[in-house]
Amino acid sequence: MKRIFSGIQPTHKMHLGNYLGAVRNWVALQGPEYETIYCVVDLHALTLPQNPDDLRAQTRELAATLIACGIDPAKSILFAQSQVTAHSELSWLLSCQTPLGWLNRMTQFKDKAGKQRDNAGLGLLAYPVLMAADILVYKGTHVPVGEDQKQHLELTREIAGSFNHRYGRDFFPLTEPQILGAATRVMSLRDGTKKMSKSDESDYSRINLTDDADTLALKFRKARTDPEPLPSEEAGLETRPEARNLVTIFSALAERPVDEVLAQYGGSQFSGFKSDLADLAVAKLAPIADELARLMADPAHVDSILRDGGARARAIADPILREVQDIMGLIRV
Ligand code: AMP
Ligand code: TRP
Repeated sequence: MKRIFSGIQPTHKMHLGNYLGAVRNWVALQGPEYETIYCVVDLHALTLPQNPDDLRAQTRELAATLIACGIDPAKSILFAQSQVTAHSELSWLLSCQTPLGWLNRMTQFKDKAGKQRDNAGLGLLAYPVLMAADILVYKGTHVPVGEDQKQHLELTREIAGSFNHRYGRDFFPLTEPQILGAATRVMSLRDGTKKMSKSDESDYSRINLTDDADTLALKFRKARTDPEPLPSEEAGLETRPEARNLVTIFSALAERPVDEVLAQYGGSQFSGFKSDLADLAVAKLAPIADELARLMADPAHVDSILRDGGARARAIADPILREVQDIMGLIRV
């Protein structure tokens, strides 16, 4: 059976990179071909300091945002990671089989830990093992993510493979990443060499799904570009990361190929293009923001969706965890 698992951290509102790189694909993959399980990964958020009340509120709001984007509780299982304790339990079991060398290679750890590596929390280092456990506790076969998660998914395959090898059975699947669509790595609007991220201190670096029309217009207007007009062909974007990013965003939002976008805008200045891009973003994002506002007016309804999703997730994860415990020699009385 094909089973999709994917997750998103509730550390900030959802941004356009999350949407185009991941969540829009999550929505599209719902259907008869896959069983789809989507998770707000609040335990992952704890790898950096969080205010407890904010974390709770953001977890609920991000779940509502996913629903507003089109995650349908009738088609998918939607829940918060901490509702299913099997994730943490499997994470411990897998961490006992994961060499430190594998974790020390992770670029996200190196970026987040910075120079003061001894001060970084153990959770930050162990983060990819929890992510592997998230997926493997469902025997997830496919994981739709943005490009930045590729290395973590390679590690997930290594962990699954080494478990299978050690215990001499074909227990965990070797999960396939699904890095899909035109915008698998959306860049910061202020610096075309950095990815758009929830943790960038400048809100002008990103488009939030809840930004209103004026904010969208302002952010695109202020987005960094170079003084040249837009090129007419894709090759002309190669050494122009900011231009390439804006064109990629346009192409992904409009669902039109890059060469078609450039055929229309090649030779023109950025001002007109940016204003059309802002209009396009409003047309695509405003309905999501409206739906989110409607959902957030009834938080009890969102909670009931999570409660139901958590129960359905536990029904899959708990028996798989029990099998792992049996395989590893933990007593059952
Ligand atoms: P995170 O916000 O780190 O929890 O990411 C949630 C999902 O969004 C993951 O699948 C990421 O790969 C994806 N994602 C995050 N930032 C970007 C970006 N700038 N461009 C494309 N995908 C992204
Ligand atoms: N690490 C992912 C990110 O930061 C979020 C995540 C946690 C995830 N567990 C996952 C993604 C399992 C896919 C599958 O974006």
